[in-house]
Order: sequence, then structure tokens, then C-alpha cells
Amino acid sequence: MEVVIVPDSAAGGELIAEAMAELLRSKPDALLGVATGSTPLPVYEALSAKVRASEVDASRARICQLDEYVSLPYGHPESYRSVVLREVVEPLGLTDASFMGPDGTADDVGAACLAYDRALAEAGGVDLQLLGIGTDGHIGFNEPCSSLASRTRIKTLTQQTRQDNARFFDGLDEVPHHVITQGIGTILEARHLVLLATGEVKADAVALAVEGPLSALVPASALQLHPHATVVVDEAAAAGLK
Ligand code: F6R
Repeated sequence: MEVVIVPDSAAGGELIAEAMAELLRSKPDALLGVATGSTPLPVYEALSAKVRASEVDASRARICQLDEYVSLPYGHPESYRSVVLREVVEPLGLTDASFMGPDGTADDVGAACLAYDRALAEAGGVDLQLLGIGTDGHIGFNEPCSSLASRTRIKTLTQQTRQDNARFFDGLDEVPHHVITQGIGTILEARHLVLLATGEVKADAVALAVEGPLSALVPASALQLHPHATVVVDEAAAAGLK
């Protein structure tokens, strides 16, 4: 695992956007796995700026989701499908056709999870998966105690994560209790994992993930198992590193 400390979130965004651009220059139809939440926004902004400046052609890029709320109606503005379309797919000038994600509205959520793992494999696997990290060490929505071998499945959000995400909704009651998330085993199949963490609120989780023991209690510590994992942290998020 390589750890890169950058001055701030804008620098982290630029660094990762350039890694994505480099990938697209060598593999124009690369499958990019994207995370939602606040942390990755500077990455998407920097990558879109590179596309607008013709520094990279992203017209054949493919985008896939990491996770999705269960039971939000199709088209809900905070469903991760809507968020990824709004924050990644449209700014890159792509269409829905280049995008895939798990179906959080399915009647049979278990079947939707299996179908998503199958779809990722049939698409040739994820080339670069961008990850954030929860204050409790989660990646995707694999909360503490998730199996390190887990596949895409339904999970119950912890109260902490629901509180963390309440800022995107009209209050805590509106935050769904369940999500579909790529499993840790699924995430580890991506060819390159890039985790971005910014702000002092992430410092404890980053220290445990990077320097703590490999443990299901800290799902992000699974990156220690991956042959090509990059952790990009700003100085505040790096504060707990030795
Ligand atoms: C969301 C996801 C989550 C977030 C994490 C951090 O798709 O995968 O693991 O990355 O909850 O969220 P922010 O960046 O909002 O602090």
C-alpha cells in the first residue's frame, strides 16, 4: 500500500484525477468505480476540468457505482444513481449508457446484488475503484464486522453512518436504513484501489486502516491485502499516522 500525503483536498482531487486521466489515455474504455459523499467531489471536478481542457478524452469511459440506498424511489435526488449521474456522468459528458449500478428499487434485492456482481465481472472488472472512508472505517457501506470476503449484498447502516449522511436529507428520519454495497471481496477485485480521506474527522479511521492490524472491525484495513492500493490523505487526515 502506498500512502500519499497532500496539502489539501483540492491537491488530492487533482492527483487522483490525473491518475484516472492517465488510465483513460492508455485504456479509453476503462471502468472507473466511483464513490459518493463529500470527499470525492474534488476528484470529479478536476477530472471534468481535464476533459473540458481536452487534456483527456473520457468519451469511452465507463462508470460504476460502489453502493446504493435500498427503497428510495427511482430518480430520488439522493439515490446514488442520481448523485453519480449528476456529479460524475453528466459533467464528463457521458450518458446513462456508460453507467452501471445496483438496483436499489428491485423487489428482490438479493437477486439485484447477485446481478450486479455478475455485471461487474462481465464488464471485465473495475480498473480503478475510488473509495472514501467512514469515520468508523467503512468502505462502500461495509460497516465494521463486515466479512473481508463479502460480495455485493444488502447491509444495514449503523446509526453513526445514518447520522453522518443526514446532511444530504431532510433530517435523520429520511435516511434509509438499508443499502446495497459492493462487498469487501468485490472491492478487492478492482485492479487499482484509490482511497481518498480528508479532514481531521477521518484521522483515527485512516490510522487504523493503514497502520492497524488487518481486521473486519476496520473494513478499510482490507486495503492492506491489495497488491495495488493507494491511500491519498490530506495533512489533517494524516494526523494519526506514525
Ligand atoms: C459512499 C461510500 C462511503 C463514503 C464514506 C465517506 O458511496 O462509499 O463509504 O465514501 O461514508 O463519506 P464522506 O466522503 O461524505 O465523508
